Amino acid sequence: MKFFIDTANLAQIKEAHELGLLDGVTTNPSLMAKEGIKAEKAIMQHYKTICEMVDGDISAEVLGTGFDEIVEEGKKLAAIHENIVVKVPMIRDGVKAIKWFTDNGIRTNCTLIFSAGQAILAAKAGATYISPFLGRIDDSGWNGVQLIEQIADIYERQGFASEILAASIRNPNHIIQCAEAGANVCTCPLDSILGLLKHPLTDIGLAKFLDDAKKMG
Ligand code: E4P
Repeated sequence: MKFFIDTANLAQIKEAHELGLLDGVTTNPSLMAKEGIKAEKAIMQHYKTICEMVDGDISAEVLGTGFDEIVEEGKKLAAIHENIVVKVPMIRDGVKAIKWFTDNGIRTNCTLIFSAGQAILAAKAGATYISPFLGRIDDSGWNGVQLIEQIADIYERQGFASEILAASIRNPNHIIQCAEAGANVCTCPLDSILGLLKHPLTDIGLAKFLDDAKKMG
């Protein structure tokens, strides 16, 4: 399973990258706004900076919702760097645009996936990645991990090539559950990635080893 970081914060991207395990980055308009990046020029520059920091797939989201707007915006985003993956919402014109991007050699990430039916449509359109939002599904009383399992099963049976990019991760356990459920990629906040490191018995064990080693000296 590949690890992406889900942020537009450069310090967090740097910290995750320095761990040596980062395979890519996802952003969305809310994450960009959180960093105070709003003007089109600044957004384009920010994506370029991220591409220069991390050698992996970088999802850049379109803001348009009509076919023509999505295609124009996506072409501009894809021209920033070869690692850009154009992130397109799961709406009717989005699906149509994903098919257009597929036919024209531009890679896509179909975002805001909340059902197996949406995952089938995105795969049929040729999306490189599809992003089920499992945390938001859990928040609304459904089971996000079950959706990942269902999509993984359908894709395997049908031979769909889209990669399942589990998104809206809320905690380290979500990452483990995504690995078990067959996600190809997990895009996570930095805290959830670092949370995988932690176990109290590791800390207790290490303290004892270091203490015993001191006694020997
Ligand atoms: C996916 O690519 C989105 O950026 C993200 O995972 C959404 O997560 P949230 O539900 O925590 O906003």
